[in-house]
Amino acid sequence: MRAPPVRPRPLAPRGLPRWGAVLALCAGLALLPVVARAQSAPAALDVPYVPTPQPVVDAMLRLAKVKRGDVLYDLGSGDGRIVIAAAKRYGVRGTGIDIDPDRIREANANARKAGVAKLVRFVNQDLFQVDYGEATVVTLYLLPRINLQLKPKLLEELRPGTRIVSHGFDMGDWKPDRVVEIGTSTLYLWTVPPK
Ligand SMILES: C[S@@+](CC[C@H](N)C(=O)[O-])C[C@H]1O[C@@H](n2cnc3c(N)ncnc32)[C@H](O)[C@@H]1O
Repeated sequence: MRAPPVRPRPLAPRGLPRWGAVLALCAGLALLPVVARAQSAPAALDVPYVPTPQPVVDAMLRLAKVKRGDVLYDLGSGDGRIVIAAAKRYGVRGTGIDIDPDRIREANANARKAGVAKLVRFVNQDLFQVDYGEATVVTLYLLPRINLQLKPKLLEELRPGTRIVSHGFDMGDWKPDRVVEIGTSTLYLWTVPPK
């Protein structure tokens, strides 16, 4: 496996997200009411839709060391790009979960276009209501508060050795195995410990 072309994080306090991800999500939060008005049945989003840039998606998959046989879950999967990229590049099965039906429709269309519809599925559900037990890799681009709310569920349901990669935000006092920067984004990697 090639080492990821990312530079080590400089000595900055852990827990402070990089401004790229923060600004993108703040802009998304400001747009939430506009987006909600434009949709027929607005979903109650915990996090606004802001897609991860493709080079950052690639870096997330490399950081998780995704390999054939893995099962990837993206919690809050947007247009499906992380799940679809993993299926295309590594041939892995993936599940995307998103509470917004418009995102699910978009993700299914993107999967068909990419020719990976047989490997992936997109579930229109609240990410707190789904069991992730079969995952070997979990990806997140959420918010600090949502990561913290999710942490006990991840630790309870995921098997030891499962890798979790978060774009932009840490998980409080759960020390990551690695923190890397790509452009203005910070990525965090954790491995679920033995029970
Ligand atoms: C910042 S976007 C990330 C999209 C994608 N993972 C990516 O990195 O490109 C967050 C996504 O979470 C979804 N979302 C927000 N609250 C959710 C919830 N409670 N359950 C499932 N999805 C949710 C939004 O609809 C949005 O698509």
